[in-house]
Amino acid sequence: MKEQLEAIQKEAISAFESCLDTKELDNLRVKFLGKKGLLTGILKQMGKLSAEERPVIGQLANTVRSKIETALSDKQKKLAESMLEAKMKAETIDITLPGKKNKLGSLHPLSIVENEIKEIFLGMGFEIADGPEVEYDYYNFEALNLPPDHPARDTQDTFYITDNILLRTQTSSVQVHVMENKKPPIRVIAPGCVYRSDAVDATHSPLFHQIEGLVVDKGITMADLKGTLEQLMQRLYGEECKIRLRPHHFPFTEPSAEVDVMCFNCHGKGCRICKGEGYIELLGAGMVHPKVLEGCGIDSSVYSGFAFGLGLERVVMRRYNIDDLRLLFENDYRFLEQF
Ligand code: DAH
Repeated sequence: MKEQLEAIQKEAISAFESCLDTKELDNLRVKFLGKKGLLTGILKQMGKLSAEERPVIGQLANTVRSKIETALSDKQKKLAESMLEAKMKAETIDITLPGKKNKLGSLHPLSIVENEIKEIFLGMGFEIADGPEVEYDYYNFEALNLPPDHPARDTQDTFYITDNILLRTQTSSVQVHVMENKKPPIRVIAPGCVYRSDAVDATHSPLFHQIEGLVVDKGITMADLKGTLEQLMQRLYGEECKIRLRPHHFPFTEPSAEVDVMCFNCHGKGCRICKGEGYIELLGAGMVHPKVLEGCGIDSSVYSGFAFGLGLERVVMRRYNIDDLRLLFENDYRFLEQF
């Protein structure tokens, strides 16, 4: 039995030595040390031994087991190390290879111009206001002096959620929120999305953007309106840019005007772009109607104000010479990467 044990020890150690991978090594562990393994097989026969032989063989068996175990764990360690080494070698990175560049996106042209306009107004001491896009009829129409049957509602048909909740058609609704919550002096702009049930074409979209402006204080006049807008346009289009006010009608301003800006192409002479006019229509404006002020709890005998609403898409299209509005919403990479 002694010879058998020694033979097992020898066989195990040499098998471990030539073993090349962990799975095979584990099979060997089972073969030699497992419950049905060779060593256990020998120990099971211990009963056949005489009383004198038993402790001697028992001790030898223990020594053999511990030698096999030590050899096994040495080999396990070695294998783990060499596997790690091989893995590291396989995964070495050639740091001299050129890297893959992450493509950096850029701001959408609408955002570029919106940010620019915000900067200009912040510089003039305005604050930026915000209002909901899902709006009550009251804020979008009624408080702006557009009662339920007012014909001007026809030009601003929109998407109704209920009879009196809708997607706002104009950022003018924010004027009312601001005046309800803040007492004059008020100087705000409110950029945002507006909605109208218009079919899509080169100049229409059911979703577009406006920038609303509102100033309310003592002694505000049309001259303040003109000066402010002229400042805006000169900052956007250059020092020599002029604006012109044409009489118009908006229910929430009195008097009202449409504001044209000198054609950036012909500088007022008249060309194809301005259709011979020399000026291009850019926004609506006026002096806030006393009814609107009073409706928001502002005393119109003490305070006056001006307001304006600017279509952001128009400004962007003028600025970059874009002739089709749809380009701004289609997310075509070839278009967007130009900005
Ligand atoms: N809300 C108007 C529109 O969408 C534009 C407008 C005109 C806004 C005159 C104003 C204003 O604040 O005073 O057509």
